[in-house]
This record gives sequence, C-alpha cells and structure tokens, in this order.
Amino acid sequence: MTQDEQKRAVAAAAIGYIPAGCIVGVGTGSTANYFIDELAKIKNKIEGAVASSDATAQRLKKHGIEVLDLNNVSDIPVYVDGADEITEHLHMIKGGGGALTREKIVAAVARKFICITDQTKLVNVLGNFPLPIEVIPMARSYVAREIVQLGGHPALRQGFITDNGNVILDVHGLQILNPVELEGTLNQITGVVTNGLFARRSANTLLLGTDNGVRTISI
Ligand code: 5RP
Repeated sequence: MTQDEQKRAVAAAAIGYIPAGCIVGVGTGSTANYFIDELAKIKNKIEGAVASSDATAQRLKKHGIEVLDLNNVSDIPVYVDGADEITEHLHMIKGGGGALTREKIVAAVARKFICITDQTKLVNVLGNFPLPIEVIPMARSYVAREIVQLGGHPALRQGFITDNGNVILDVHGLQILNPVELEGTLNQITGVVTNGLFARRSANTLLLGTDNGVRTISI
C-alpha cells in the first residue's frame, strides 16, 4: 500500500472505535481529514464532534457534522488524530500542522486516544521530526534562548500563526530519550503555551498502516 492508501486504511479502521451516539474528538492533518470523510458516512449515528482546529471544524461542517463547543461537552469517549512520530510506547510528537495546543486540550478531555498513522511515523526514539512548541509571540526570543540551553536548535515557523494567535518554534536536534520529563520541562518555560510531546497523555491505541494492512498496538 502507498502512504496515502495506508492513511485511508487506518482512517476507515478508526470508525470501528466510535460508539453509537457519542461525541467524537477529531484531530487535524491529512490523516485526520481522511477520518472526517469516513465519519461523514456514519454522521447520523453520532451526536456530534469537537474539533481540534479551525480547519477541522470547517471540514466537519462541510460534511454536515455538527461541531460542538468543548465548553459545552463533558464527555468525549474517543479522540482520533494522526501524529508526526510515535513510539511503541505510544508517546508522540504532534504539531506538524500547528494545531498541537487544541489537539492536546481535546485529547485531555477524551477517555480514549486512537492514533492513526502510516508506517513512516513509527520510530524507536522521538526527535528526528522537529518538535513544535507554541509560544506567546512576545516571548519568542526568550523561549528560544532557553531551548538552546536545553540542547535544542529552535527555528521560527515562517509565516505561520496558530488558531490561538501564537507562533511556533520547531526544535531540531533533540534525541528525546525521556519524553515524559522533557514535556514537563518545556512547559515550565514562561511564554510556552504547550509543546508537541504527547507523552503524559499518550495514545491508548495506535492503528498503523503497513504494507500488509492495519496493525493495532494498544497499551
Ligand atoms: C497537526 C498534527 C498532525 O496530527 C500531524 O502533523 C500528522 O499529520 P498528517 O496526518 O498530515 O501526517 O499534529 O498539528
């Protein structure tokens, strides 16, 4: 299967994890977009969706799926989203599409996180993909200096503003051996909104697209 076929296959497989009548948390990115297209086929069986970005909200609405405000929702049984890198421990780097903060918020509320990726995203150690960090604009230079102290090489994502009005620093050169610790350390830097490590709230299940079909890894 091509990378795109793998994305479509895991998006379709994720539908099997959606309980009838539930509110679904929906991620952002090309794989999540395929999931939205699949979700549209069962839209009459769900109550609605909570979106992790403006782009996702638009795509859901285009398909006639009701988009709910997270503040009016107390229970999200399942959140479905892609990742930029994921380990066998189901720790992830996310935020390649810049939606990491809202993704982390919806994932925090959700009872189950189903991650859907093609096989290129599975890694032994996180960090080859530059780690995105959402930063309040006035703190950009300060946060960058602090990250250099931690051994990273931050680069401002050019021409990009998040849905929350902030900037993204993409941090190169990290070999992340302890993602739980680094996630906390980075979030302690004043001016950081959040970072793209999803280790404290990791995925519960990975649906991985492979040449031989969909492989399921659960913890
Ligand atoms: C967006 C994300 C995406 O999940 C991540 O970038 C993967 O995207 P794609 O499915 O297009 O490979 O975190 O902020």
